[in-house]
Amino acid sequence: MMNKLFEKPIGLMTFFYLIVFLSVVGLGLYFIANNNAIVQNTFPPKLTDTLGVVKELDIIDPKISAAVDMNNFRNPDQATLDKGKQLYSTVCAACHGPEGKGDGPAGIALNPKPRNFHDQEGWKNGRKLSELFLTLQKGIPTTGMPGYDYMPVVDRAAIIGFIRTFMSAPPVDSDEELAKLDQTYGLSAGIKQSGQIPISSALTLLIADNSSQELKISSALQKVSDPANESQFALFASVIGNYRSALTSVLNTPESLENLQNFQSVIFANAGSNGFNASVLRLSSAEVSTLYTLIKTVLS
Ligand code: HEC
Repeated sequence: MMNKLFEKPIGLMTFFYLIVFLSVVGLGLYFIANNNAIVQNTFPPKLTDTLGVVKELDIIDPKISAAVDMNNFRNPDQATLDKGKQLYSTVCAACHGPEGKGDGPAGIALNPKPRNFHDQEGWKNGRKLSELFLTLQKGIPTTGMPGYDYMPVVDRAAIIGFIRTFMSAPPVDSDEELAKLDQTYGLSAGIKQSGQIPISSALTLLIADNSSQELKISSALQKVSDPANESQFALFASVIGNYRSALTSVLNTPESLENLQNFQSVIFANAGSNGFNASVLRLSSAEVSTLYTLIKTVLS
C-alpha cells in the first residue's frame, strides 16, 4: 500500500494532511477537556496570613508623665543637669560619645556621623531648645538618629539641658517659640497616657466576668425552680414569665439591687420585655418589697 502511495504523490499528501488535521483536532480537544486545569490555578497561592497574626500588647499603667517646669527648661538647675547627664550617658553616648563629640562606638559606621554637639555649623534642626526638642521627638528621618517620643518629656528636657552644656553660647528661644513648643507637646501640662493590657488578659477578664454572672444566674434558677421551695417563690412565679431574662436584667443593672426604689424602677421600666410580666405593675408596695428581698437572696 505504501508503494502505491508513493506512486501517487497526491494520495501521499492527502494522507499527510489527514494526519496533521487529526493531530490538531486531537490537541484542540485535549486542550478543551483540560481547560480548567490549564487556565485556573489549581494550587492555592501561598500567601502569608498577616491578618491572623496577633501582636500582643504590653501592660502599660495609666499615667500622666510629669510636667516640665518651663523656667527650669530654659535655665536648668544642677539637679536637672545631673539627671540629664546620667540619661545622656545611658541613651545617647553610645553614638554621640561621652563628651558629645559624635565619636561614640555605635556611631562609627553611621553616615551621616552622629552630630558633634561642639560644632556650631551644619545642624539640621538646630540648637535652640525647641529645635532640640523637635529632634528628640521625631528623630532625623533617614539617618541613624532615632526619635525618642516615648521618653517622658521631663527626661527629654533634662537631656536637652545637659547637651547644651557642650555648646558654647547656644542660641536662645524667643518666648513665643517656647510657648508654642509648650502648647504643641503639652510640656507644662504633662502628658496623659492611658493604660493598656494584653488582649488575651482582657478576654480572660471578660470571660471571667461573664462566667461569674452565669454562675449566679444558674444557681439562682436552681433555687427558684426547686419544688421544695415552691411556696416560698409563689410570688416570684406569679409575676415572672421568663426567670432567666428577669434575673439577667436585674443583674445587668447593678444599681437595681442597691435599694428598693431602684429595684422597683428597674423592674417596672420594661415590664413585659425584661422577663417580668406586666402584672408586676399591680403589685402592692409590700409585695414589691418581698420580691426585692427574694431576688436579692437568690442572686447573692
Ligand atoms: C544610633 C545612634 C544615635 C543615638 C543612640 C542617638 N543619636 Fe543623635 N544623631 C545620630 C546621628 C547619626 C545624627 C546625625 C543626623 C544628621 O546629621 O542628619 C544625630 C543627630 C543628633 C542631633 C542633631 C540634630 C540636628 O539638628 O542636626 C541631636 C541634637 C541629637 N542627635 C541628639 C541626640 C540625643 C539627645 C540622643 C539621646 C537621647 C541621641 N541623639 C541618640 C545618631 C544617634
